[in-house]
Amino acid sequence: MRASIKQHSLSPSRVPSLLKQGKITIAVVGLGRIGLPTAAILARAGARVFGADISAAVVSSVNRGKCKFVDEPGLPKMVREQVKAKRLQATTDIGKAVSRSDISIISVPTPVDDRKSPDYSAVKSASSTIGRSLRRGSIVVVESTVGPGTAENLIQPLIEAESGLKGGRDFGLASAPERSDPGNILANMGTIPRVVGATDSRSLGVVSALYQTALGVKVIQVRNPKTANAIKLTENLFRDVNIAFANEFSLLFEKLGIDAIEVINGCASKYNFLPHYPGAGVGGPCLPSNSYYLISEGVRAGNIPYMIRMAREINDRMPDHVVQLVSEALNEVGKTVRGSKIALLGVAYKPNIKDVQLTPAEGIWRRLAEMGGEMSIHDPMYEGDVVFGTKVKSMDEAVRGTDCIVIATGHREYKSLNLQGLAKMMRSRVLVDGRNLVDPEAAIRAGFAYRGVGRGR
Ligand SMILES: NC(=O)c1ccc[n+]([C@@H]2O[C@H](COP(=O)([O-])OP(=O)(O)OC[C@H]3O[C@@H](n4cnc5c(N)ncnc54)[C@H](O)[C@@H]3O)[C@@H](O)[C@H]2O)c1
Repeated sequence: MRASIKQHSLSPSRVPSLLKQGKITIAVVGLGRIGLPTAAILARAGARVFGADISAAVVSSVNRGKCKFVDEPGLPKMVREQVKAKRLQATTDIGKAVSRSDISIISVPTPVDDRKSPDYSAVKSASSTIGRSLRRGSIVVVESTVGPGTAENLIQPLIEAESGLKGGRDFGLASAPERSDPGNILANMGTIPRVVGATDSRSLGVVSALYQTALGVKVIQVRNPKTANAIKLTENLFRDVNIAFANEFSLLFEKLGIDAIEVINGCASKYNFLPHYPGAGVGGPCLPSNSYYLISEGVRAGNIPYMIRMAREINDRMPDHVVQLVSEALNEVGKTVRGSKIALLGVAYKPNIKDVQLTPAEGIWRRLAEMGGEMSIHDPMYEGDVVFGTKVKSMDEAVRGTDCIVIATGHREYKSLNLQGLAKMMRSRVLVDGRNLVDPEAAIRAGFAYRGVGRGR
């Protein structure tokens, strides 16, 4: 007779003491920007953690105590300490890690493909591998961002098919989507409440107790995995749609000779206005893809979320708008993009992190290069590296002798640019601010032909 999961010793009330005694074993499948800190935090809390990844390079680097996410404060040290203490051990043998674990956490990538459809291939492969080795009574937690229903309708059946076990009876399934921001992952993991939804009450209790104890955060229990996944997507879509709204009215105000930033700051003086700002585009592994998970579920359910789709289109067009501003500003000083030397400041998709996934800077760079601009690149996080096939230079090297500066990322270094100093180094003086970091008046005083997104004059 199959043991019911109720018979397993891991009950919610025992989680804190078992964790402290090192008696809970956890497999974290996928050791990326989310999986690695999750593994390290759980190890620090006392769990025995197997970090399982398909990449031998990732596994070997973690086992040497290394962490490639140098832009995550505190993470390299935490990984080093937990590996040294032998609480965190990485492996490419995902099956073995799962078979020895009480809980398996899925933290693999969930991008969109060229047709903007969710690409769940990593989730599918991880689910099948987990299914082949899953112990009766254990719990699978989905931390990867997925569309509502994916845990119940894709992940659970795959695990059931491979394991011969029944979800909710022989194993538990929970969704506990990760809500942290890159560049601040550890701090966020320890403060942002964790939303947990599960297919059975024991898994809900155990997973909630685990996050509460190990992360020290409040847990918000919801009725099922699909609600947890809907919460994760809705909060990201809220941001994407609001940014699109800011971009849309800012483009209009630019044409009407109105400064959109002044408008937004004015609006923000009313209690119920939540300011969002226009910019060169939205990048990263989350916002540009997450909408498509919901759109895809909407299409399936016969209810297409038009506003969400429109928001994506607006945000995706912003790099082209920046290119248009560059062209206009260069024309103002009697130049065209063709033949001009242009320094792109910032390649990362968001400030102060080393990550170029779906970065809007790439579209700006590519288009200007196609139009005949001679491009140089600076980014404080990437100095000396090769990005977009080009070596990232120091600020001086990137800017000297150029005609135009384009700010594509809001890195803190660019908030206090020495405009007079840069102007002296340049052949012509054009500045296009895709992140509205520079005071327009200061740029004009320094002799620049200036353009900023939404800065109508
Ligand atoms: N990065 C973020 O800011 C962020 C924030 C919140 C949520 N998320 C979500 O978390 C999930 C993971 O994202 P990430 O940024 O950590 O990804 P990542 O690309 O940084 O790392 C993913 C890791 O998974 C490994 N991997 C890929 N396929 C695998 C498989 N089948 N089995 C085992 N390992 C596999 C890769 O080798 C890599 O090491 C995604 O769903 C993402 O949307 C990401």
